[in-house]
Amino acid sequence: MTQTRQAFAAGSRLFSPARLGPLGLPNRLVMAPLTRNRAAADGVPGELMVAYYAQRASAGLIIAEATTPNAVGQTYPRIPGIHTPAQTAGWRRVGDAVRAAGGRMFLQLQHGGRIGHPDTSGHLPLAPSAVPPPEPLHTATGLQEPVTPRAMTEWDIRSTIADFANAARNAIAAGFEGVEVHSANGLLLHQFLAPNINLRTDAWGGSTEGRIRFTVEVVRAVAEAVGPERVGVRISPGVEVNGVVERDTEELYPVLLAALTELKPVYLHVEYADPDRPGFAALRKAWPGTLIANPRLSREEVAADAGAARGERLLSEGADLIALGRGFIANPDLVERLRTGARLNELRPESMMHVHGPEGYTDYPALATAVA
Ligand SMILES: Cc1cc2nc3c(=O)[nH]c(=O)nc-3n(C[C@H](O)[C@H](O)[C@H](O)COP(=O)(O)O)c2cc1C
Repeated sequence: MTQTRQAFAAGSRLFSPARLGPLGLPNRLVMAPLTRNRAAADGVPGELMVAYYAQRASAGLIIAEATTPNAVGQTYPRIPGIHTPAQTAGWRRVGDAVRAAGGRMFLQLQHGGRIGHPDTSGHLPLAPSAVPPPEPLHTATGLQEPVTPRAMTEWDIRSTIADFANAARNAIAAGFEGVEVHSANGLLLHQFLAPNINLRTDAWGGSTEGRIRFTVEVVRAVAEAVGPERVGVRISPGVEVNGVVERDTEELYPVLLAALTELKPVYLHVEYADPDRPGFAALRKAWPGTLIANPRLSREEVAADAGAARGERLLSEGADLIALGRGFIANPDLVERLRTGARLNELRPESMMHVHGPEGYTDYPALATAVA
């Protein structure tokens, strides 16, 4: 395996420099956004997060984990926010450490919508319509049955859009190179896209144009706040997670991408990018800008270390950058390991989420440490 990977790495484009708008990236490997529940209870990133991200600064780009633009948008306990001065100051310490270690960072902005609970956020969750999620949720008081969210009023929608713009300004003030608007994985923006959750009959629902409107208006507001060259967008077409059921992806996503193209965000980030399915080629054709592809490997593929090969294949099919998630959790120096064909650390899935200490977070060794 190691020999094959060394031979492969020698000619791989994964390790060639790239441009992302005004930014120069030393390689094409992106650390995908990864929720790790290690912020303080008030959403402030602390020293543990500073150490974790600085360890991973050799990624071409880090997209830091889902971070809430307001209190009601919090999904799970110990998720960071970027709507208070203390949270923004905490993120500045993270960004300073990453830059000092030679890295670059975007911050993912995520509103959970109906994926949230009053025991965690202190608020009744908001969603496009009053449709509860299908499964119990991790909350500050343990696993709890979901609650029925409140359908957003026009005022809720407008003020949430303003919160995203404000969070983006805070992120730039904290020193991030840009922000990623999270319109994937069954969270608020994706809930607006999904016909089984968005049952609205006003201008924010119904037709394809109605259902894409919230994502488009969030991206527009964020791009106006910080400049489109500092804004990326993440989507996961057709992925049935957090109770989203999308049966109209072939109709909806081309319309969404056409509307987003006019706003000129610096990248589109596609989850579950599979070069063997027609959807990927269609997305590549529909998106004129930088495309980040996240292959989303099976557990077996992660264990068999298939990330680099899948990434290379996606580059040859038109992707510009490759995002990997679990590989970066287990390997702070993933880029170096893939480049040299070195063995990868074994992932410890039990410490990925909903636990709070350094175990499984900052204690995965880098090569030099592992050898020592
Ligand atoms: C522990 C964990 C946390 C995640 N948190 C986020 C997140 O905050 N935002 C997001 O868009 N995706 C999140 N994802 C999805 C990852 O960004 C990525 O799409 C996924 O892990 C597939 O990539 P991989 O096969 O390289 O791991 C998470 C995945 C994992 C395993």
